[in-house]
Amino acid sequence: MDKNTLSITDNRTGKAYQLAVTDGTIRTMDLRQIKTGSGDFGLMGYDPAFMNTASCRSAITFIDGEKGILRYRGYPIEELAETCSFLEVAYLLLHGELPAEDELSGWADEVRHHTMLHETTKKFLEGFRYDAHPMAMFVSTVAALATVYPESRKVLDPAIRVKQIARLVGKVPTIAAYCYRHSLGFPYVYPDNDLSYTENFMNMLWKMAEPKYSANPTLARALDVLFILHADHEQNCSANAMRAVGSAQTDPFLATAAAAAALSGPLHGGANEQVLKMLDEIGSIQNVPAYVEKVKAGQGRLMGFGHRVYKSYDPRARIIKWTADRVFEVTGRNPKLDIALELERIALQDEYFVSRSLYPNVDFYSGIIYNAMGFDPDIFTVLFAIPRTVGWLAQWQEMITDPEQKIARPRQVYTGHDARKVVPIAKRVTHGVA
Ligand code: ACO
Repeated sequence: MDKNTLSITDNRTGKAYQLAVTDGTIRTMDLRQIKTGSGDFGLMGYDPAFMNTASCRSAITFIDGEKGILRYRGYPIEELAETCSFLEVAYLLLHGELPAEDELSGWADEVRHHTMLHETTKKFLEGFRYDAHPMAMFVSTVAALATVYPESRKVLDPAIRVKQIARLVGKVPTIAAYCYRHSLGFPYVYPDNDLSYTENFMNMLWKMAEPKYSANPTLARALDVLFILHADHEQNCSANAMRAVGSAQTDPFLATAAAAAALSGPLHGGANEQVLKMLDEIGSIQNVPAYVEKVKAGQGRLMGFGHRVYKSYDPRARIIKWTADRVFEVTGRNPKLDIALELERIALQDEYFVSRSLYPNVDFYSGIIYNAMGFDPDIFTVLFAIPRTVGWLAQWQEMITDPEQKIARPRQVYTGHDARKVVPIAKRVTHGVA
């Protein structure tokens, strides 16, 4: 018998089957042959929330959640964060290899060439209420780019795809900065293409009346490192949204908006905003033990703790902690850090958190850094969305060019009524359904 197989006996029928095992998986389509009779649809897998189902083959990001390993295209995240710029990492994720010098300068030029927003997009943004949530503005404005670039719908044309990728990578910092300035009521600052990707973003955020913006190099590098850490994370909720929406051959602007919408949820990229709100709610170190007890009693979650995949530690959280120290040398220590450190100390010793493998994730410290840099919590997820756009696009490109992929369309286990007849309205009883 082939060793790379799985033997299954269907006790309903007594029949035996052998399914191929490849890369540690069986194909759930192979289960379909397992039937009780000719009218049977065939066996399916049931896996709400994709707890144990691979939806694709991917060569982009590797995670070992037990060992706390994260690699982009084979390179450890620690090395990339230490030695590379965000644009180098973006090139790596999108093209599979680190760029040589001329490739990097060509790529940086290409991105720079696409940092401007069409004036209609700027006007579109101006229509939002002054207190609109920046993430809702970001999602809508990214979607609105589809109105400016209708050719983006030709998703099967490789040259058109490459152009939209450069447009999105170039424009998301501009959109993010405009959302930020809009919420403050400040005039928009046009991109300055003399500056690096991150410095230009800082310029669009913070330039006021000075003729030329000059970024603090420590803060610019910290932001670049944060961008590297957030660039991709394999099949998470938003990447899955990007692939699912993109699988309908939807244009990349709308698919990216869908992915960003997924990111905005408090259980995903919205967690960093929630962490700050939680630290504010706790208020002081003395209140930490009582807060932890509340969480253990089932009243809320410790935001920034826990991860679906990492069960020992999140390697990004370690790098972020190190980055926080560099940032605080410039900005001064954020008092919220002391509350966060105490929360981490108590939680890491507590049986409730230890037994559930709950550790700080990437969002636990990123919000404290952003806050020290002067950002309000409601812009945090937008800061996450800028680099993650690269990951979404890498996932999208891989999905589009994968001959095995089709429109994403899960099955269901139907639990509703059997067929029934419509009762005339005069004879129906009230069910109290809202
Ligand atoms: N605080 C307290 N308890 C928690 C937490 C938490 N942060 N996270 C999980 N638990 C508990 C659950 O209550 C559950 O306990 P039980 O077994 O007694 O019922 C157990 O740990 C398992 O939790 P699940 O919800 O089944 O874990 P899942 O893998 O589905 O969730 C998630 C992962 C969503 C990240 C979760 O840990 C969470 O809500 N964390 C807080 C939000 C957060 O920080 N999200 C950011 C994730 S990183 C990112 O998206 C960039």
